[in-house]
Amino acid sequence: MNQALHGRSVVVTGAAQGIGAVLAAGLAQMGARVLLADVADTAMAVSRIRDAGGEALGMRVDVTRAEDCEAMAEQAVAAFGGIDGLVCNAALFATLPLLGFDAISEERWDRVMAVNVRGPWLCARACVPRMVAGGGGSIVMISTARVFNGHPFMLDYDASKGAVLAMAKSLAREVGPQGVRVNTIAPGLTMSEGVLARPGIAERAVGIARSRALARDQAPQDLIGAVGFFLSPASANVTGQSLIVDGGGVMQ
Ligand SMILES: NC(=O)c1ccc[n+]([C@@H]2O[C@H](COP(=O)([O-])OP(=O)(O)OC[C@H]3O[C@@H](n4cnc5c(N)ncnc54)[C@H](O)[C@@H]3O)[C@@H](O)[C@H]2O)c1
Repeated sequence: MNQALHGRSVVVTGAAQGIGAVLAAGLAQMGARVLLADVADTAMAVSRIRDAGGEALGMRVDVTRAEDCEAMAEQAVAAFGGIDGLVCNAALFATLPLLGFDAISEERWDRVMAVNVRGPWLCARACVPRMVAGGGGSIVMISTARVFNGHPFMLDYDASKGAVLAMAKSLAREVGPQGVRVNTIAPGLTMSEGVLARPGIAERAVGIARSRALARDQAPQDLIGAVGFFLSPASANVTGQSLIVDGGGVMQ
């Protein structure tokens, strides 16, 4: 693995398991010191990184709570001396039952918006001043390829991830002058632990894989390169962009 993130301090939210845990491990392999933040226990994900020789720290953070996000940013600075990167990965996704647009409760709608939209905003709000204090930084938001094509039965989720895409672009304009970049990756269906646990996923995944130019399942590991690129100096003049990572299912 290349060492493009050597010595950089990166916060990854939603990193207890699934895509977030794999991203944190991949970024650590690229040389980053990683703070894994999640409302769930991150101990296992942190141990795996340390066992592989990486530098990692875990913390319980609810991204919907401003005080948790502030504490997360403070902890990253205390432990690593600053914040160079933030990956806003935490979301309500794999545990959301598929429902028609008229069957989603108002409570679920509000909770999805709180975690998936307010969460990244609060994390950015806490981390940007620390990035600026250190001379700049890079934020990677995680949206979804679903927002480019339209998909049934997760209207709240898709609306939240469309908001993430828009938020990243406007935020890029606001914080660019201070040396902070903001980009988005939009993954297609990715076989994370949570997705693999979904009933009927194997049959759906076959059809999705066939629809891709690269006709195979996507693994969480397939996302590491794109996130690492946006966090690294290789993308020093790239901001406000979104990159679809889905084996060529959606082409723009
Ligand atoms: N797996 C896919 O097919 C796919 C495709 C496109 C985009 N994504 C996005 O990738 C990201 C990760 O996907 P995944 O499949 O690993 O999802 P997942 O649902 O398995 O994992 C989400 C993680 O976020 C954490 N989380 C939930 N609420 C939180 C909160 N309030 N505060 C802090 N952490 C919280 C969970 O504990 C969990 O570890 C999500 O943003 C998802 O929307 C996933």
